[in-house]
Amino acid sequence: MTDPLDKCFAEAKINSLTLRNRLIKAATFEGKSPGGVPSDALVNFHERIGQGGIGMTTIAYCAAESDGRIHEHMMYMHEGIRPELEQFIRTVQLTGAKVAGQLGHCGAFTKNLEFSGKRPLGPSKGTNALGLTYGLSRIAEMTKPQIRERVGVIGRAAGFMKSVGFEAIEIHFGHGYGISQFISPKTNKRKDEYGGSLENRMRFALEVLAEVRKNVGDDYPLLGKISMTDGVPGGVTYDDSVEIAAMLEAGGLDVIICSGGTSSMNPMLLFRGDSMVPGLIKHEKSRLMKIGIRLAAPIMFKDYPYEEMYFLDHAQRIRDRVQCGVCYVGGVCTNDSIRTVMGAGFDFIQLGRALIFDPDFPKQAQERPTYKNGCNHCNKCATLIEAPGGIYCVERPANFA
Ligand SMILES: Cc1cc2nc3c(=O)[nH]c(=O)nc-3n(C[C@H](O)[C@H](O)[C@H](O)COP(=O)(O)O)c2cc1C
Ligand code: SF4
Repeated sequence: MTDPLDKCFAEAKINSLTLRNRLIKAATFEGKSPGGVPSDALVNFHERIGQGGIGMTTIAYCAAESDGRIHEHMMYMHEGIRPELEQFIRTVQLTGAKVAGQLGHCGAFTKNLEFSGKRPLGPSKGTNALGLTYGLSRIAEMTKPQIRERVGVIGRAAGFMKSVGFEAIEIHFGHGYGISQFISPKTNKRKDEYGGSLENRMRFALEVLAEVRKNVGDDYPLLGKISMTDGVPGGVTYDDSVEIAAMLEAGGLDVIICSGGTSSMNPMLLFRGDSMVPGLIKHEKSRLMKIGIRLAAPIMFKDYPYEEMYFLDHAQRIRDRVQCGVCYVGGVCTNDSIRTVMGAGFDFIQLGRALIFDPDFPKQAQERPTYKNGCNHCNKCATLIEAPGGIYCVERPANFA
């Protein structure tokens, strides 16, 4: 019998793009783009990941517009950073890795000091707890012209990303950001054709997908990351996610990435492992927000002990439902897990923390059949995204030095 590991380390295609293997670096906003400009440290980080043998790395967060950023130190897609992005991508490509960008819009989940509007825009009125101390707490309901405008903005950002050299785009449909605010019945209370049934709540997502496709062409690789559940009562459920995946496939997505949880309501569901609360309080600059995190912690930061492949059963339902590519993400740290995921029919695996712990994971895993990654899921790296200098593995701080 052939070893499923061989499948993982063989070349694989996403639409017209060939990857040297089936391992993809998961989007992990690295906090290394001060003022919204990619720094040398960010380039070094992805170059190092490329040198470790990854098939494709994913650069996050590529906001569709300035107001699509959670804060002002995230990149947004505009001509002002074209030279930096072009050079960045060329440098990483020299390692043999392909380069994708995660295209997102935060919607109403923002504390962006450069926010140009009066209020953050969401599908419906509501409260944006993240913006409480930034004057951005009251969410305004998007008008239909504003919805059409956002669709156009995201589509044009995709065209820009292709033009600077990104070889694939991962659209962020999950984690409580802009598009998923429309998908979730928890945040979308609209009475028009963008609210109500799942079909209606998916309208914005599908319009965005169609516009992105129009701007990048039929042969360009498009991935999309979804939340299989919001993890809160009244939110998207695992059952919904099977339908969501089918709709995105019908809309022309090449690969669906099966994540879960929301940064705004239930972040630990997407990570699992040790609580991020102590680290978030430590690195939060605003005293009021520190108090806010402490108060919100029991409701928002639930306890989800780490397990290998913690999303596998739910992702399997999507694998079984759609014909397009499916990428597994969430707790892959050993070659045995790679074998299980590949054997279950998934096309790709995304690796997040395991690569922050050991950027040589792909090379090591290919050379040593019993490879085990040592990430202990303390989640301290994830609490550093707004710390000076951004993320690193606290167990191995010299990894990307
Ligand atoms: C430091 C850090 C930053 C992250 N930033 C993002 C992000 O920008 N976009 C995203 O979709 N997911 C983000 N994630 C979630 C990862 O992409 C991935 O879904 C999650 O870490 C589970 O995969 P893992 O078990 O391989 O780490 C982040 C995770 C970490 C640890
Ligand atoms: S800090 Fe290191 S050990 Fe802890 S979760 Fe991040 S990568 Fe893993």
